[in-house]
Amino acid sequence: MPVAEDLTAPVRERTLNPLTDGIGPSARAHEHRLLSAARPALPFLNWIGMFAKPLLKVPGLGWITADPLTARSVLNDPEHFTLLSEGGVGHLWAQILGDWVYDLFDGPGHYELRTKSRELFTEKSSFEFVERAWGSRIEDARRAFDAGEPIDLADLSRILVGQMVVTLLGMPAEDTDDAYREIFRTGEELAATALGTTADTVLPPEKIAKAREIVEKLTGHIDAAFETAPGTTIIGRCRDLGLSLQETKGLSTLLMVAGTETAASAMARTAALLYDTGQQHALIADPKLMENAVREALRVTSPAPIIGRSVLADLTIGKHTLTAGERIVVLTWTANNLAGEYRVDRDYIPQNRQLWFGAGRHLCLGGPLARAELTKIIELLVGDGRPFRVVSRRYGKRVLIPAYESLVVQKAV
Ligand code: HEM
Repeated sequence: MPVAEDLTAPVRERTLNPLTDGIGPSARAHEHRLLSAARPALPFLNWIGMFAKPLLKVPGLGWITADPLTARSVLNDPEHFTLLSEGGVGHLWAQILGDWVYDLFDGPGHYELRTKSRELFTEKSSFEFVERAWGSRIEDARRAFDAGEPIDLADLSRILVGQMVVTLLGMPAEDTDDAYREIFRTGEELAATALGTTADTVLPPEKIAKAREIVEKLTGHIDAAFETAPGTTIIGRCRDLGLSLQETKGLSTLLMVAGTETAASAMARTAALLYDTGQQHALIADPKLMENAVREALRVTSPAPIIGRSVLADLTIGKHTLTAGERIVVLTWTANNLAGEYRVDRDYIPQNRQLWFGAGRHLCLGGPLARAELTKIIELLVGDGRPFRVVSRRYGKRVLIPAYESLVVQKAV
């Protein structure tokens, strides 16, 4: 039996320790183990992050913050912080994709790209993408699940995300689970290039060569498809929105890297949270809480647990002076979990906004898509009004984005 929260108690607002007091005893223990399995340093970073309000300097790592307001002010301040210099994700990608990334990822080209791609993922188009990409596959899974068959939700999430990539990018691929698993794995491999770069973003030549090979495998088809891709794919929409071929390939790479592991991680962890906290019962009792259930799952799982930037120009925050060239890591997981345990009756938290999607000019482009995907997964789990249980689970080891390797769920009898 999961250790259930007292569902009748009002949401408590108090200072919480995310490692010992945050998200319900069972849920907390599993999340903690999941983070440790992915990256052994993460729980330590999260723990020390509790003292990083507003900021703390950690030797060998740089500045860290777990304060939502400081985090947002950092992410909203391109005058003083960048992701392009050493320490930021842009610096990683420039080594792989080429110097044009500097313009497209954070320079004037980025502003133009974001302006043009603003309409790429709206609430409406995202739900349509989910229907089109997952339609029959998720219906099959739902029929089997409702009939009492166990499903490995972590595996299914990877298949569905692979299928989403194929649909969005119009990639040539076989319509089989194995083909979609392989696409997911390739995206994961690309993202793994960034593993071990929390403190240093200079890549060795062999990593660069490997990553270039993968990018070509994933986006090579765009050269030929660009002119004729239908407007229902991201390639066609990018072209129709006025993006160049290079911008479209760059954005597609970004989508692969930013929107695959994060989304799959959120899906299985949401299922685990709903079960471990007992909150699935509250949701079944009041399905109107779906939007909260999704938002809370994103907050508590915060699949991108850290966001790195480097300091461009000296500035003072509180009593701390940050110097150009130093690094800063925003601890999104800690900042979001300090706000409290997973509750489907919790309202939007104005202070945190949607820090799990970042903030400012790099705010996640795929937020509406991630929400639509999670909604569909929760519908699969409890849409028939009956609870489910977690039969077994295995945490992913040494992965960039903390995630379940396997999470087998089944309808409770
Ligand atoms: C639960 C799922 C997701 C989470 C937690 C998440 C989180 C984030 C975060 C924190 C950032 C900001 C990174 C930074 O500032 O350095 C980001 C950026 C981005 N995300 Fe997501 N993401 C998710 C899903 C998706 C999906 C499904 C897509 C699209 C298919 C996507 C596309 C992007 C893109 C393109 C960016 C870069 C935006 C830019 O630099 O302007 N993400 N995401």
